[in-house]
Amino acid sequence: MLDNNLKNSPQLIVGNLSVVYPGVKAVANVSFSLAKGATLGIAGESGSGKSTIALALMKLIAPPGRITSGEIIFDGKNLLKLSDAEMVRVRGAKISMIFQDPFTSLNPVFTVGEQIAEAVRLHQGLGRAAAWAAAVKRLEAVHIKEAERRAHDYPHQFSGGMRQRVMIAMALACRPQLLIADEPTTALDTTIQLEIIQLLKEVQAEFNLSVIFITHNFGIVKAFCRDVLVINKGSVVETGPVAAVLSRPQSSYTRKLLDALRIINRE
Ligand SMILES: Nc1ncnc2c1ncn2[C@@H]1O[C@H](COP(=O)(O)OP(=O)(O)OP(=O)(O)O)[C@@H](O)[C@H]1O
Ligand SMILES: [Mg+2]
Repeated sequence: MLDNNLKNSPQLIVGNLSVVYPGVKAVANVSFSLAKGATLGIAGESGSGKSTIALALMKLIAPPGRITSGEIIFDGKNLLKLSDAEMVRVRGAKISMIFQDPFTSLNPVFTVGEQIAEAVRLHQGLGRAAAWAAAVKRLEAVHIKEAERRAHDYPHQFSGGMRQRVMIAMALACRPQLLIADEPTTALDTTIQLEIIQLLKEVQAEFNLSVIFITHNFGIVKAFCRDVLVINKGSVVETGPVAAVLSRPQSSYTRKLLDALRIINRE
């Protein structure tokens, strides 16, 4: 009975999470949960607190910003109670994050192969050759052509869409259980955006990942997520299955976001 309960319990439970920066209550009492393999969109306008939630989940809120309340239960453990050393083992290895701008996460002075291999070595303790082979395999998984050769290239030698693929490869380096994607397609043109969404769907299935997809674009939420959390000024205004929220939005804020999408789509 207990085993059964554990199996069905959510992989991630966020309860009453609050984050402040000096003078700003960026996130206020946000709660949600995520089952293993589920896809949750976090949608809201610019400044609504989406990235702050993502950073809080990774315990990467930079001081003087800080988490003032709440719990983040991942795999049965409250991350907020872990030491920095324990958290290092969670980041990348169990929870990975992809950012909007690949340049913030890719180091310009190392080849992409070196960077992915380093992540693998750090978390999995593989030797150089095995880590390099794993890096090439990850690049193949995100459809970088001639991955073995391209692994020797530097980030600037890739196009924006390819860099985002490299970021995904890097995020997958240690086979995480949860992937947090913070507006990973915003800087890309529409066709490439769709390719990246398609790729994320593919790797989600292949690696049985849970995904939190942060975006201000409801079109992307619809294309990728089963559930959605709508936030405004740091608070949850609405949550539920995407289809239900899209067809019967309960809050005026959600309706406003959806109207904005309709106007954009009509143009
Ligand atoms: N490092 C920081 N220091 C001070 N205030 C911050 C910091 N980061 C974010 N904020 C503030 O916290 C609030 C939430 O910001 P956040 O970046 O989480 O929003 P967002 O929803 O991700 O916006 P966007 O869609 O533009 O990325 C905003 O008022 C923002 O100005
Ligand atoms: Mg943001």
